Amino acid sequence: MRPPPAGRPGRDRDLLSEPLTVGALDLPHRVWMAPLTRMRATAPADLPNDAMLRYYVQRAGAAMIVSEGTQVSPEGKGYMDTPGIHSAEQVRGWRRITDAVHEAGGTIAAQLWHVGRVSHASFHGGQAPVSASASPFRNRTTIRGDDGQPVRVPCPTPRALALEEIPRLVDDFRRATANARTAGFDAVEVHAAHGYLLHQFLSTESNTRDDAYGGTIDNRARLVLEIVDAVCEAWEPDRVGVRISPVGRINGLDDPAGADTGLHVAAELVRRGLAYLHLSEPDWTGAALLPDGLRRELRSVYPGVIVAAGGYTVQKAVPLIREGLIDAVAFGRAFIANPDLPQRLARDLPLNEPVPETFYGGSEIGYTDYPSFT
Ligand code: FNR
Repeated sequence: MRPPPAGRPGRDRDLLSEPLTVGALDLPHRVWMAPLTRMRATAPADLPNDAMLRYYVQRAGAAMIVSEGTQVSPEGKGYMDTPGIHSAEQVRGWRRITDAVHEAGGTIAAQLWHVGRVSHASFHGGQAPVSASASPFRNRTTIRGDDGQPVRVPCPTPRALALEEIPRLVDDFRRATANARTAGFDAVEVHAAHGYLLHQFLSTESNTRDDAYGGTIDNRARLVLEIVDAVCEAWEPDRVGVRISPVGRINGLDDPAGADTGLHVAAELVRRGLAYLHLSEPDWTGAALLPDGLRRELRSVYPGVIVAAGGYTVQKAVPLIREGLIDAVAFGRAFIANPDLPQRLARDLPLNEPVPETFYGGSEIGYTDYPSFT
């Protein structure tokens, strides 16, 4: 197990301020910005824009910014106004953002995203979204209504990806990784959590395939691991992280065998020498806590860097870092509302409250106008 950082006696919160080496990156502290979809990219080409640049630069004090989910292909899109990383114009837009974040002293990873069935036919020329299997499920997504405003609609039943389509899908992630390098990101994070496509393959509920990508735990994990291997061909493994959420119902997906599957994936990932494992815990959705036994098992199979997210506070983080069970913490909603969150946590300053009504879509209100403390 990795030795926990020493910290200073009597200043427990200093554990979050200790430096951490994450693969190829030496990070100055342990407060990360979690990936946060904000639905403010420029339509119709899903382009990163100036408002996004301002938003990320304001948060460059994060040890690592993980970008909002960024679709690897048009097929991977599921919500209106989310950015992509598959076109040259998108790559140019991201380059401006990464350059500005670096200029401000920050570090930024691209979260590579394919939503699978959490989508809508209107994003796919009237065709059904893709998934592991063609099972009906209950969830909603956000599309542009006739009046141009966001509207919540039910997700349709997806179609199952054909076996012959899988190599193309793997290539989409490989190409997105190469694009992320060109766009100046410091790392990529493969999004295998939260009921999106890769999680749809991992879960016994959403994956009822009877080919090499369904059934056994090896088969259900095959796609994720093939994608990670392709990503590691496009970049070094020490620039690659993977996000999983083994416990908790989310985006209409349950994962009854999620703990075992998560342990299996973590054990496979450690053999690949990745930069980090990003563990999304369920309680931020109102669900139960991540079971302590599972946290310990994950640590025992995964001795590398574990970044944890989900309802964290300094009080929740510090004992887990001290015990060596996690290495860093990603904050989501608190980073939306507090551009200078790491300084506020380090100095025990009061926090701004996030406004959920402006989380998804809209103007720069509730986006770039949260004040820093100083
Ligand atoms: C999220 N989350 C999320 N997760 C992810 O992997 N990719 C994403 O694009 C998003 N988008 C997103 C948008 C918004 C508005 C919220 C609130 C959350 C989940 C997020 O990364 C984090 O895991 C949760 O917010 C839990 O952390 P907090 O908010 O309790 O610190």
